[in-house]
Amino acid sequence: MVNMKQLVASAVMVVGVALSGQALASKLADQTGNAEPMGTRSIMSPTKIDARTQPSAKVCVQGEECGGAAAAPVVAAAAAAKSPEEIYNSSCMACHATGAAGAPKVGDAAAWAPRIAQGADLLHKHAIGGLNMMPPKGTCAACSDDEIMAVVDFMVSKSK
Ligand code: HEC
Repeated sequence: MVNMKQLVASAVMVVGVALSGQALASKLADQTGNAEPMGTRSIMSPTKIDARTQPSAKVCVQGEECGGAAAAPVVAAAAAAKSPEEIYNSSCMACHATGAAGAPKVGDAAAWAPRIAQGADLLHKHAIGGLNMMPPKGTCAACSDDEIMAVVDFMVSKSK
């Protein structure tokens, strides 16, 4: 027959062992430098396989949860793209409306005729890469090559 004192003492011992077991486990984890919980360390564990087999791209549908962030509305992205005229107004007009730095003025057919005669490819190339006082991309670093080419075509169409 165990008395109460003995019972309490053994209970305390069991708890003590459990605690030191845990301490030992975390110590081991520290020593291996591996903080990952058991069962996820193997390269064949479901967590690791999942991480390896993620698709390289994810299709997000508007209104649905998508990796934590809601899919951005496609309309907004399309609206953010600037028209050639907008880019001209913000990046090219300063020189090409005034003739500053010797820039051929938009609307000045005589100034543009010999340039247009070079062919559209060269005009595009000079607008993207720059030419003398003409800065690369007309300083619109955020513009894509295609956008710059569209602006050139816009300027040329206004200058014939
Ligand atoms: C800092 C002034 C400046 C800005 C801004 C500028 N240009 Fe120019 N651009 C020039 C000058 C100067 C020339 C003439 C260069 C020459 O022939 O030596 C020129 C020439 C051109 C030409 C003719 C190139 C050729 O082969 O004859 C095109 C096309 C052109 N610019 C497009 C653009 C576009 C598009 C933008 C805006 C995205 C832009 N430019 C912004 C100054 C500027």
